[in-house]
Amino acid sequence: MTEAVCENSEVTVLLVDDNPQNLKVLYETLKDKGYRLLIANEGEKALDLAHRHQPEVILLDIMMPEMDGYEVCQRLKADPQTADCAVVFLSALDDLQAKVKGFNLGGADYISKPFQSQEVIARVKTHARVIRLERELQARNRELQGDQARILNSISEGIYGLDENGIIEFANPAAGEIAGVPVDELIGRNFFDTHFATASDNPDGLPVQMTCRQGQAEGQRDIRMLRMDGSGFPAEYRATPKLDNDELHGAVVVFRDITAELESERELQEARELVQEQRDQLAHTSRLTTMGEMAAGFAHEVNQPLTAITNYARVAKRMMGKESPDLSLLQETLDKIEAQSHRASEIIRRIRRFMKKPATGKEVLSVPALLEDTRQFAEVDMRNNEGGIEVTFDEDLPEVVADPIQVQQVALNLIRNALEATRSADSSVPVEVSARLAGNSCVRVEVRDHGVGLPEEAEEKLFHPFYTTKDEGMGIGLATCRSLIQAQGGEIGFERPEDGGARFFFTLPVAGAEGEPCKASDSAAESKSES
Ligand SMILES: Nc1ncnc2c1ncn2[C@@H]1O[C@H](COP(=O)(O)OP(=O)(O)OP(=O)(O)O)[C@@H](O)[C@H]1O
Ligand SMILES: [Mg+2]
Repeated sequence: MTEAVCENSEVTVLLVDDNPQNLKVLYETLKDKGYRLLIANEGEKALDLAHRHQPEVILLDIMMPEMDGYEVCQRLKADPQTADCAVVFLSALDDLQAKVKGFNLGGADYISKPFQSQEVIARVKTHARVIRLERELQARNRELQGDQARILNSISEGIYGLDENGIIEFANPAAGEIAGVPVDELIGRNFFDTHFATASDNPDGLPVQMTCRQGQAEGQRDIRMLRMDGSGFPAEYRATPKLDNDELHGAVVVFRDITAELESERELQEARELVQEQRDQLAHTSRLTTMGEMAAGFAHEVNQPLTAITNYARVAKRMMGKESPDLSLLQETLDKIEAQSHRASEIIRRIRRFMKKPATGKEVLSVPALLEDTRQFAEVDMRNNEGGIEVTFDEDLPEVVADPIQVQQVALNLIRNALEATRSADSSVPVEVSARLAGNSCVRVEVRDHGVGLPEEAEEKLFHPFYTTKDEGMGIGLATCRSLIQAQGGEIGFERPEDGGARFFFTLPVAGAEGEPCKASDSAAESKSES
């Protein structure tokens, strides 16, 4: 008689007794209760069955020839395969010492012979349940540990578990890779000695020290850590305290080598600077082009004061040829000469300022003053275009932060486009330039004309470089405007007014609100903006 009944049952119970009569009674008691029952009539057999089947419960007789129940129990507990099963001793020995000995050897329970079947059934049921749950719990724990190990192994950041003195108790494979040695060689080492130069190189204390000693979470980027071979690398780390019931047990450190990251950040920065440089260069070229186109207008504009100066100088000379020259009239004429030369030099100053490279950089500026200056500038062009420019603005308009030359370049481009569109439409309605507050953080500038109106395909193409509908146009005006306004943190766009013509707008951040989004929030329904 050795084994097997109820093959499908989940819980296995091993019955061990040298007396066949006892075995029979036990078997009869437990059969049909849903257990898989195994039977052994001596110790060796019991151990063999237990090792092969790992029963949840073993009902074990103490008094057996050859090997007694105590020894069986001892050996069961020594075998990892069977160590967790619940051993319930069965014996006629009902003295306390026998029981204590059984429990000391790892027994879970004790049933005195002659036993009551109800008692056997109840105890087997309880122990089977406990062992079942324990095994499930262990299986789940193993699963979790497996998951945890897989996660820790697959993480590219190095992870250390440190005790409160900084001794490495745990390291994942990535930590070994970063340090340049197998994980085993890291365990037991001092984290601070391993990864940092002497404390004197770190007068503010070594990184992670505060976490280990005082339980304060900390982290830093771009600190220098050492590999085991003494070479250094830039690192980022985060240290969190290991707490158990508020008691500090060291720290967990997550760290990584950021050499490649810093390198790509540097490359990105360089690329950004290059783009910025090219953008500035393009804007400058575009300013030079505009000046070239306006050259005739400027020549005319400068010529006027020069002619006036020549005339006043002639008058002055004639006055001085007289016997008693009227000195006060002479003074007045010289004042006029001075005023005219100021007028000429003002035009030249404006041109020189506009052509400057690079642009001056952002500053706090008044939009109305800038628009007024731009109007005078554009009026030189107006002589070729015949039209007018009217500037209006809200009282108490706040100042903005922007590059004055670049904003002037944008305004001038838009005004020149508007003047050109007005001329093409043979219209004499002036171009309206206005500025007002939009929301709390933006000043919105609009340039409105009553010219030919925007071309059909404007939505897709208007701001594309080299898109032009003009014979003499280059198509870089609006493309430049867009990149300049983006650089100021603003938005640029256009609308098609219902009564014809075109309206272009751009926004600039109010001083003190530079970081806030500068959206042209109150633009009309049919508008397209670029930001
Ligand atoms: N106010 C406007 N009214 C009608 N069409 C306009 C207006 N402003 C721009 N456009 C259209 O947008 C196109 C592109 O303008 P953009 O200023 O970029 O180039 P351009 O004026 O043609 O040449 P340039 O490079 O000399 O400025 C113009 O050719 C024109 O078709
Ligand atoms: Mg243009």
